[in-house]
Amino acid sequence: VPRVAAPHVVNIADLRVLARRRLPRAVFDYIDGGADGESTLRENSRAFESALFRPRCAVAIPQVALETTVLGTPVSMPILLAPVGSCRMFWPRGDEVAAREAGIAGTIHTLSTLSGCRLEDVRAATSGASWYQLYLVGGRDAARAAIARAKTAGYSALVVTIDTPVAGLRERDIRNGTKELLAGGPAMLRYLPQFFARPRWLVDFLRDGGLMAFPNVVPPGQGPFPYTDVACALEQTAVTWDDFRWIREVWGGPIVVKGVHIADDARRALDEGAAAIVVSNHGARQLDGVAPTLRALPEIVATVNGRAEVLLDGGIRRGADVVKALCLGARAVLVGRAYAYGLGAAGGPGVARAIEILRSDLIRTLKLLGCPSVRDLDGSYIDVPQEWSRRQNNLSNMLA
Ligand code: GLV
Repeated sequence: VPRVAAPHVVNIADLRVLARRRLPRAVFDYIDGGADGESTLRENSRAFESALFRPRCAVAIPQVALETTVLGTPVSMPILLAPVGSCRMFWPRGDEVAAREAGIAGTIHTLSTLSGCRLEDVRAATSGASWYQLYLVGGRDAARAAIARAKTAGYSALVVTIDTPVAGLRERDIRNGTKELLAGGPAMLRYLPQFFARPRWLVDFLRDGGLMAFPNVVPPGQGPFPYTDVACALEQTAVTWDDFRWIREVWGGPIVVKGVHIADDARRALDEGAAAIVVSNHGARQLDGVAPTLRALPEIVATVNGRAEVLLDGGIRRGADVVKALCLGARAVLVGRAYAYGLGAAGGPGVARAIEILRSDLIRTLKLLGCPSVRDLDGSYIDVPQEWSRRQNNLSNMLA
């Protein structure tokens, strides 16, 4: 296992390099890649660079407070672990490993429907709170069964992802033969050499049981849904606003609507009773060419106007990025790739290191900003490019 302490690993990009070294290309690219030309993938991160801080200097802040609450759950910092599919490909029992580290760090872990671990086992692995992310793959009855299990197991919120009527075109997955590899048979042969180029990973993968099913997608009367690539799985998972009624009835707890880009959908999510909204473009893995999430955030915050909590994900690689999202009104953020790189690089210690990097970034950034608490961050600490509000101005001119 590679060393993840400094100076080997100083930032998230270093964990990414280590993950690329340990994982076969198909697995690394599944984490790393986005849809189509990956323009939104680049922009998600670039948007954070375009927002500039306005620090208050000559202010002594011996102690900064990172604690906050999300849907009433206290967290040690405003960073949650996002749902990430197929974590068990990155590290043996990867979802359990990530959940455990989230709990140790005092934050919330979100389990993806497309996990290879049983949701009960993942829940049991963490001392913290857990959220369950729902896809309708396997059909409505399989989803009902999963929701009931998640409730019994003690998940405290249901995250409904609304941006997957089909999977985005993940070009890297096609080139790497991800679908062929998962389907098995002779078609997979030409894609196999990438596994033998990563023998340490291969040993771990086989010891963990090799290819699993989706143990949380169990259509009644059938066994767990067989493992498929994400394109096949998402093909069957379109959620519509009408689904929220039965989902609410079965779940009966707080619902987080993930994948909101525009004000209309934020309003719709509120109408359906969303307790929180995640401004998300699915890590730029679905529709390429949408706005980076930081840029979409102010419109959603203004629309929601305190009626639900607004979270953000996409492109976060530094604590400063988290701070910028909070300045623009996010209550907290979710990180996916940032911890998935750590998981793929080094398992639990890699996830812990990713979280630790972001946490120390947060502390340092707040001190440099002259801000004592994440709860005090607001628009006065940040400048965003003028053109970010152009659409609203243009629209009001057009409508005037
Ligand atoms: C799964 O949801 C993925 O985006 O790969």
